[in-house]
Parts: sequence; structure tokens; C-alpha cells
Amino acid sequence: MHLGPWVRIAALAAVAALMVESGAMAEDGAKGMRRDLHSLANPDEVRVRHVDLDLAVDFASKRIEGTATLRYERQPGSPADAPLVLDSKGLTILGVDKADGGRSEVSFRVGPADPILGEPIAIAVEGPGGSVRVRYRTAPTAGALQWLDPSQTAGKREPFLFTQSEAIQARTWIPLQDSPGVRITYGASVRVPPGLTAVMAADARPRGSDPAVFGFAMPQPIPSYLIALAVGDLTFRPIGPRTGVWAEPSVVDKAAFEFADTEKMIEATERRFGPYRWGRYDLLVLPPSFPFGGMENPKLTFATPTILAGDRSLVALVAHELAHSWSGNLVTNATWRDFWLNEGFTVYIERRIVEAVYGVDRAEIEAVLGLQELRDDLARLPPKDQVLHIDLAGRDPDDGMTQVAYEKGALFLTQLEHAFGRDRFDAFLLDYFNRHAFTSITTADFLDDLKARLFPIDPGAAAGIDLAAWVGSPGLAVRFVEPTSARLDAVGKAAGDWVAGRMPAARLPTGGWSTQEWLYFLRALPDKVGADRLGELDAAFHLTPRENAEIAAQWLLVAVRNGYRPADARLETFLTAIGRRKFLMPLYRELLKTPEGTDRARAIFAKARPAYHPIAAESVDKLLKSH
Ligand code: BES
Ligand code: ZN
Repeated sequence: MHLGPWVRIAALAAVAALMVESGAMAEDGAKGMRRDLHSLANPDEVRVRHVDLDLAVDFASKRIEGTATLRYERQPGSPADAPLVLDSKGLTILGVDKADGGRSEVSFRVGPADPILGEPIAIAVEGPGGSVRVRYRTAPTAGALQWLDPSQTAGKREPFLFTQSEAIQARTWIPLQDSPGVRITYGASVRVPPGLTAVMAADARPRGSDPAVFGFAMPQPIPSYLIALAVGDLTFRPIGPRTGVWAEPSVVDKAAFEFADTEKMIEATERRFGPYRWGRYDLLVLPPSFPFGGMENPKLTFATPTILAGDRSLVALVAHELAHSWSGNLVTNATWRDFWLNEGFTVYIERRIVEAVYGVDRAEIEAVLGLQELRDDLARLPPKDQVLHIDLAGRDPDDGMTQVAYEKGALFLTQLEHAFGRDRFDAFLLDYFNRHAFTSITTADFLDDLKARLFPIDPGAAAGIDLAAWVGSPGLAVRFVEPTSARLDAVGKAAGDWVAGRMPAARLPTGGWSTQEWLYFLRALPDKVGADRLGELDAAFHLTPRENAEIAAQWLLVAVRNGYRPADARLETFLTAIGRRKFLMPLYRELLKTPEGTDRARAIFAKARPAYHPIAAESVDKLLKSH
């Protein structure tokens, strides 16, 4: 083969690396906005359309090994010698061959490693399209994978593996074009140790004769961050005609009870925002080290067991992940700068689902708590990270995953609803989901839509919306309707009465308080209440031994702030048993505020770290380092 493509490959990788460093393309007009700074792939030249995975999961070596067969198409007008460039991070590439025909070896080159983005793989391909097969294995440290010992599971007998591909970790377990702007269909065959079950966020193919091999198909085109796999001692319970739950055997009944309203949620969303387009909607309950509350893997939401409160009080998370079946999975952020399009829309729709299924009171409560969390984040974030259309050049997309994307994004949409009226805004959203279905769009695309399709309906309402400020200004210097909740106002008053000594703890009207009312009460306490006064609360309401993880986390935060020693042991159990980053970070942050706390944080983290997911461990690492 002549040298042409290889020179191009070297140039391409160098240019991509340079752009990441300088953020040169970040503001380069509409086309530049669409460029994904977090991928080294070249979908504008040669684009992957379909991937077939043939994988084997090996717990002993903590590796997945197998092949990814990629079908690609050269894009119109792109050079005939442009290679196919994939993302990878930490993968060992064993070889590449031609998938169509004789399996002849194909030349490839692995580019230099970028600490955030990984290593591009450039594969010499010819012609308008075809297929190549990449033989590879993952590193034991792959960021997407968490390998659990039996001791970290509910059953304690079998190991467990799950993946977390969002935002840019798919490349640590599959060589592909790892950009949310590139949609693919896929098929998979997964071999697992005898007795274990594999599930993927895809349709299950009929079982073949080998009980250790599981087959899957994803016929809808999805972005790579939605590819997901879990392997363990898993069992299934149906909960409705198209819904069900996967979990370890000892957890599955509790989960089926907790998620009983899922079908109602789907129907409520369909009524307003159009059909659910993914066939089944199942949930998978993971072991407690899952670093997130939930992950909207298509057809199969992955969820933390910490939402199994026993009273369905934390199912707004199901509403949230389900809502992503429209905002996120159907209409996807084109780059991680546009992450708020995924999450802000989803929080807005989540609250609409909660309102439809559980009533307006509960939706208002969620909105008030959400705004509190946004204000907390705004208080600690630099101004440049307080904007919806965040600049992530040269940074980990993780840096953009704050309440700004979620709650400020949701406030923006709520404000549009207020300005134009619910029916007209819903009609706009329905049309938005239909027109952009199965595509990936940017913040600019959304603003164009607003200007073309919503604003002309009511120019007076439009005049009150400052689009540039909503997407580009820090803080909350925009006009918005502050959410309120009468029920939370009453809780706030109770907290005030207790703090001021007007009412003893035992006489507080806590009888019917929901999880959310407890959270609001605990958040309403002043920073320094005093350990003795916390003792009074604890005696009256048994807060330290609470099993509800949301209440426990909020209480432990108050306890740390006040040096309340009786909660010390619970804090340590909590931080070692649960790996959900949303709970870990505030607690570690609070501990780091004093020298003794810092020592405790380091001691607890040293014990807990091996059980944390790489994503959570890295976040705590960063926090401790920055301290
Ligand atoms: N897609 C997110 C989780 C995520 C975001 C993973 C960014 C990796 C990178 C998911 O939908 C989510 O937002 N989960 C929330 C729960 C929700 C109720 C706000 C979480 O995990 O806390
Ligand atoms: Zn989300």
C-alpha cells in the first residue's frame, strides 16, 4: 500500500489533538458548534452505521475480549483515501481484518494517547463503504466497566459486571466512533460464565442452544453512550404489558413493588409527547456501587438500589430515566456541550410525569428541591460553568454534569411553558420530538426551532424570553417563576419553630411526611444547630438508622456539619456500602471542611475506594487532590 493514507492519519490525529487543546473550533460558527471535541473519530469523512459485537466476559482477568465488526460508509465529498478513525481508550487491538469475504488483514494504526480522549485507531479502508472486524480486549482498568466481587452483590455468591458508557466511556470497552452525534444500530453476542445471565439495553434475541451465550439486537439507531451490558445472577419479573424488572433474586420482588407505576408513567408521557418508540421498557436494579441514580440505557434503564425505599417515594428517578426515551435517546445532544438538551428537557418531562401520575403537589415539591440543589451548585461553581451552553474544550465532559444542565435547563423550559401556555408548549414539544426523532441536535438547533416555531405564535410572550441570557449567562440572572410548594412551606415553618425552640421535636407534625418533606426539613436547619440539639431530633425520629438513602445522606450531612458523633459509624457504613456519586460528593466535601474531617475522609476513602466504580473513585480522587 502506498503512504498516502498514513500521512493523513498522522495529520488527522495531530489536528484533532490540537483542536482539543486550544478549543479552536469551539466557536467556529454553526459547523464548529456541531463538532464534537470529545471524539477523535472522523464521522464526517467515514461514518460507522452498524456494529456487531461478539464478546466473551472473563471475570478472572477482568477483561472483555472479542470482536467488533463495523459497517462504515464514506461520506459524500470526502477524500477517497480517508481512513476510518475510531475512538478507543486502553483497548488492546489484536488485529483488524476485512469482514466481507476472506478475512484478509487490514492495516491500522493506533494514535498517541490523550489522557481524556484516549487513542484514535485509524484503519485503512477503501471504496464507498464496507465492513472491518476489529479483534480486541479491554483493560482491567476500563472506565466503563465495574467488576464486582460476590461480596459486593446482594446474593454474595456470584460476581457481577456492569457498564456505564455515558459520557465518553464506551470507547473503553468497544472500539467505535464514540460521539453522541453518530448513531448506530448494533447486534451482540455475549458469552458469560456458566450460571450467569447477560442483559443488554437492546432487544433480546431468542436463546440458542448454548446456555452461556446471550444474543441482542438494537434496531433503532442510537448514540454509542447508550450501549450497555450487565452480567450477574439476574432474574426477571414482569410488572406490566411492556415493562418489567431485572435484579438479583433477593431484590427483584421489592423492585417490582417499587416500580409498579411504570406503565402509567409511559402512558402519561405518550399522551403528551408522542409514542414510546422502543418496544419494551424494563429496569435493571444494580448493586449499590452503581455510581449514578439511574442511567437511561434504551429499553432497559439501569438504576441504583438506593431508590428502593419501600414506599415508592423515590420513583421520580424512574420518571426521569423514562423521560429520556424522548429527550436524550430519541432526540440526542449532538455534543457534550449540549448536555443540557438531554438533562434539562428530561427533568422538565420528569416533573410532568410526576404531576400526571402523583399530582401537582408532588411535582411542585420536586421543583422546589431541585432549585435548592441548583442554588447549591451555583454557589460553588465558577461563572463559566454556570451557563447551559458550557465550554468543555480540553476538559472532561463530566465537568458539565452539574445541576446547571439539569435544573437550570428545566427552569428554562418551565419558563417557556409559563410564557406560552401549557397546551401550546406541549404541541411545540410533540412536534420537536417527531421532527428530530433519532437525530442528534445542538443548542443552536433548539434555539432556531424556538424562533421559527414557538415564538411567532405569541410575539408578546417571546419578548419576555432572553434566549442569549438563558443559554449563555451565569447564575440565575433571567426572569423565571420561582417554584413553590404549600406542603414544603409548612415543613419550613415546622423547622423554624423547632430551631427557635418554640416546638420540641417530639411535637413536630411529622406524621405524614414524605421522603421529600424530610429532605426539606433537614435542609432548612441552620449550618450550626449543635450536636446536642441533633441528639434531640435523632431521639424523636431515629434518623441515624434510617434506611432511606436520601434521608440518610441528608441527615449525615447535617451530622458532619455539626460534629454529631453518634452518627460516625453510620457515616462510615454509608460511604463504604453505597457508591452513588450524588451522595458521596457532598459528604466528602463537607468532611473536607475541617482538619479532623479531612483525616476521616481520607481514612474512610482508603477503605471504600476499592468498592467504588472507577467514575466515583476518580471524582473523589479529584476532590481530595484539589483540597
Ligand atoms: N444520564 C444521566 C446519568 C449520567 C449523566 C451518567 C452524565 C453519566 C454522565 C441520568 O439520566 C441521570 O440524570 N441520573 C440522575 C438521576 C436523575 C433523577 C436526576 C442521577 O444519576 O443522579
Ligand atoms: Zn438524566
